[in-house]
Amino acid sequence: MNKMEISASSFSGLAARVSGEGAEAWEIHRLALERKDAGEDVLVLSIGEDSDATTPAHIVEAGVKSMNAGRHHYSEMEGTLALRTAIVDHHNALTGRAMTPQHCVVFAGAQNAIFACSLCLLEAGDEVVIVEPYYSTYPATFSAAGATVVKVSAPSENGFEPRLSDIEAAVSPSTRAIVLNSPNNPTGAIYSETLVKAVAELCRSRDIWLISDEVYADFVFHGRHISPSGFMGPEEKCIVASSLSKSHRMSGWRMGWVIGPLALTRRFSALALCLHYGLPPFVQDAAVVALTGPQDETVTMVKEYGERADLVVERLSGVPGLGVFAPNAGMFVMLEVSELTPDATVFAHALLEEAAISILPCGSFGDNVDHLLRMSLCTSQEKLHGACDAIEALCRRLGA
Ligand SMILES: Cc1ncc(COP(=O)(O)O)c(C=O)c1O
Repeated sequence: MNKMEISASSFSGLAARVSGEGAEAWEIHRLALERKDAGEDVLVLSIGEDSDATTPAHIVEAGVKSMNAGRHHYSEMEGTLALRTAIVDHHNALTGRAMTPQHCVVFAGAQNAIFACSLCLLEAGDEVVIVEPYYSTYPATFSAAGATVVKVSAPSENGFEPRLSDIEAAVSPSTRAIVLNSPNNPTGAIYSETLVKAVAELCRSRDIWLISDEVYADFVFHGRHISPSGFMGPEEKCIVASSLSKSHRMSGWRMGWVIGPLALTRRFSALALCLHYGLPPFVQDAAVVALTGPQDETVTMVKEYGERADLVVERLSGVPGLGVFAPNAGMFVMLEVSELTPDATVFAHALLEEAAISILPCGSFGDNVDHLLRMSLCTSQEKLHGACDAIEALCRRLGA
C-alpha cells in the first residue's frame, strides 16, 4: 500500500457499501467517452442523456428571472409551498389521490430522494426487495443503511414484468420495503395494473413499505402508467419518488421529490435539514413553471422517443440471433445477444471497435442479465438507422 494512502478501515461501512458494484459494465461507456474526447466520431448510446437537447426555454427563463429577482438565499427545508402544491397537484391528477403539500418533500433529484428513503426506513438486519434488471444505483443506495438487498427477476419472456409469486416468495419477516420502478429503467416496461395493485395489497397486508420510483411516469409512449400509490391511502406505507430530470430535460437542475404519509414527510424534513438545508429557490421557482406551464415540449419529446423506439424495434426485429424488446416508455431499447455470444460485453466491445458505437452491457443492472444490452434512444433517427445497420452487420458476422 502506498504510504500516503488512507486505509479502508478509516472509512465508514456506508462508504464501502456505496462504492464498487457493477463498475465494469460501465467500462464501455468510459472507453467511448475517452475516444470521443480524443476527437473520434463515436456515437455514444450507452447513457440516457441527449446532451444536444436542453431544458425548455420558458423553464430556463423562469430560473433566470428568479435569480434576477434576488432569490439567492436559503429556502424552506421541505421545499417552497408553491412547488409542493404544484407537485401534489400533478401527482393527484395522475393517480386520483388527494395528497396535500404536507405530504411532499423536495430533494436534489429522485436519486437523492431514494437515498433519503434508504436512510429513513432501513437499517442492518432489514431486507429490501428490488426487481432485476434495476436502475444501477439501487444495490448501493438500499444497502447504504446496512439493509440487505433481495433481488427478484423481471424476465424478458414476461415482458420484463416481475411475477407476483416471485415477489411474494422474496418477502420474509425481515422485509422492510419493496421497490417498484415502473415505467422501468432499463427495460422500458410499464407494469400492469394487476401487478401494481397486487403489490400494493401485499405491502398493506404484510405492513411493508412500498417505494415507487416513477421518474419515467411522464415518459410513456405506449400504454398508460399506473402508480401503485393510487391503491394506497394517504397515510399508508407508500412512497412515490420522482423528478423533472427526464420529463422536462432537467437532469442538471437536480429537482426531485417524495410523496408519502405525514409521519414520513416529517422525518424527511428533518433529514433534509441535515442533508442539504433546502434546495436553491431559483431551481424551485423554475420547477413550478415546469409543472404548471405549457407541456408541449414534453409531449413532443415523448412522441419523438416513441418513434425512435419503433424505428429501432422495426429495424432490428428479425435480425438472426438478436432479440429486441419493444419498450413502452423511457429512453432505451433492450437487446439480447445470447444466441451470438454468451457475454454481451464481448458484443459491446466489438461494436465499439468496428463501428465506433457504444451500447451498454447490462452487467450493472443485475446478477442474471449478462446476455442483455441497453441501447439508448437519445440521438436522431438518422443516427439510430446507422446504429441499426452496424448492429445488424455485427450480428450477421458473429452468427456466420
Ligand atoms: C429509474 C431511475 N430512478 C432514479 C433516477 C435518478 O433520477 P434523478 O436525475 O432525478 O436523480 C434515474 C436516472 O436516470 C432513473 O433512471
